[in-house]
Amino acid sequence: MATTPIFNASCSFPSTRGIDCKSFIGLRSTVSKVSVASSRIGTSQRRNLVVRASESGNGHAKKLGMSDAECEDAVASGNVPEAPPVPPKPAAPAGTPIVQPLNLNRRPRRNRASPVTRAAFQETDISPANFVYPLFIHEGEEDTPIGAMPGCYRLGWRHGLVEEVAKARAVGVNSIVLFPKVPEALKNPTGDEAYNDNGLVPRTIRLLKDKYPDLVIYTDVALDPYSSDGHDGIVREDGVIMNDETVHQLCKQAVSQARAGADVVSPSDMMDGRVGAIRAALDAEGFQNVSIMSYTAKYASSFYGPFREALDSNPRFGDKKTYQMNPANYREALIEAREDEAEGADILLVKPGLPYLDIIRLLRDKSSLPIAAYQVSGEYSMIKAGGVLKMIDEEKVMMESLMCLRRAGADIILTYFALQAATCLCGEKR
Ligand code: PBG
Repeated sequence: MATTPIFNASCSFPSTRGIDCKSFIGLRSTVSKVSVASSRIGTSQRRNLVVRASESGNGHAKKLGMSDAECEDAVASGNVPEAPPVPPKPAAPAGTPIVQPLNLNRRPRRNRASPVTRAAFQETDISPANFVYPLFIHEGEEDTPIGAMPGCYRLGWRHGLVEEVAKARAVGVNSIVLFPKVPEALKNPTGDEAYNDNGLVPRTIRLLKDKYPDLVIYTDVALDPYSSDGHDGIVREDGVIMNDETVHQLCKQAVSQARAGADVVSPSDMMDGRVGAIRAALDAEGFQNVSIMSYTAKYASSFYGPFREALDSNPRFGDKKTYQMNPANYREALIEAREDEAEGADILLVKPGLPYLDIIRLLRDKSSLPIAAYQVSGEYSMIKAGGVLKMIDEEKVMMESLMCLRRAGADIILTYFALQAATCLCGEKR
C-alpha cells in the first residue's frame, strides 16, 4: 500500500503503473499529487461524497435547459436551487474537556490539514534522477551475496552487473558508481593495478558503455582496493601515508578510467591536492569533458565497515585517521570545500550521509556547486537489519532517510537503496 504522502510515492495506485520511467521525472509531481489525494481521502470526506452521489446520480445535477438569464432571474426572485447542507460538526469522544479556544493567530496545522495541502506545500522532492547506484563487481561469473549488506552482491561484471544496471534504468536510475573486488594476487604496496587499462574497472566501463551509451558512470579513485596494505595511499615503512606520491598514482588511475569511458571520476582518498592534479592530468590527455566528483568531507567513520567486508579492503594495520576527517569536526569541512572548489571539482561529496546532515547543509550554503551525499554501507545495513527484525518499517525509513538527505541540501545521493527506492517511487513493488 501507499507510503506516506510526503514522499509522493503511491506504491499501489494503479494510474501510476506503466509510467515510462524515462519521462517519469516530468510526470512525477502531477501524477503523484493526484494519486496521494485520491488514495488518502479520510473517512469524513468519503461520507460526504457518498451523500452527494446518491442524491444526484454520478454527482452531477440534471440540466433543465435554462439560459443564464433564466437562472439569474430564478435566484433573484427567491427561487434558489438546492445545494447540500454544510455537514454537522463531527462529534468529539465522550469525556473530551470543553475548553475556550486558544487565542492563536497562527495555527501551522492549517497548512497540514489534508493530503492536498500537504502535497502543495511540500518543500523537498525526490526522484530516481537524484540517485547514483553503487555497485560491487568481481571477476567471477556468479553473484556473491555480501553478508553484512543484505540485498547487495558482488556482481559478475559480465552478467549480474549488466542485469542490475538494466533493472535500475527501468525505474529511472541511470547513474552508477563502480567498486571492484580485486584479486589478492594483483595487489601491491603501490596499487599499480589501479591504472591497468585492462583491469576490472576499465573493462567493465567499456562493456557497459557499449551496451548503454547514455549510462552515466562514476568511478572511485583511491588505491585501497588495489593496495596490499588496504590503505587509500602508498604506505611508508614508518606507517606514514605518502601524499604526493599517492596523488601521482591517482592521476594515472583517473586517466585510465577516463580512457575507458568514465563520465565522472570520484577521488575518495582524501589526499591533499588531488583534485587539481587529476584535473590537470585529465585535461592533458584530452579529457576536458570528464567531471570530478570530489569526496570533499569524508570522515574517518565506522559506518564503512560493511563496505570493507564487501571488497575485503580493510586496512592491514592502523586506521585512516591521517587522511579521513575527524568526525568531531565541522569547520574543517569548509577548508576542504574551498580547496576542492579552487582546484576545479564539479561536485562536492559528503560522507557518510545521515549522521553528517549538518555538513551537507554547510556545503550547500557555502558553495554553489552541486552537493552529493553518500548514504554509506553501515547506514544501509542498519536500516536493513532493523527491517528484517521488524523493529522498523524498512521501506518507510528508507524513503525518509533519503528525503532527509535531500532536505539537508544534497542534489544527488549515492545509495545502495537506489533500485529499491526508485522502484517504490515509480509506483511498483519489487
Ligand atoms: C575507499 C572507499 C570507502 C568507501 C567508498 N570508497 C571505504 C573507506 O574509505 O574505507 C565506503 C563506502 C561505504 O561504506 O558504503 N576509498
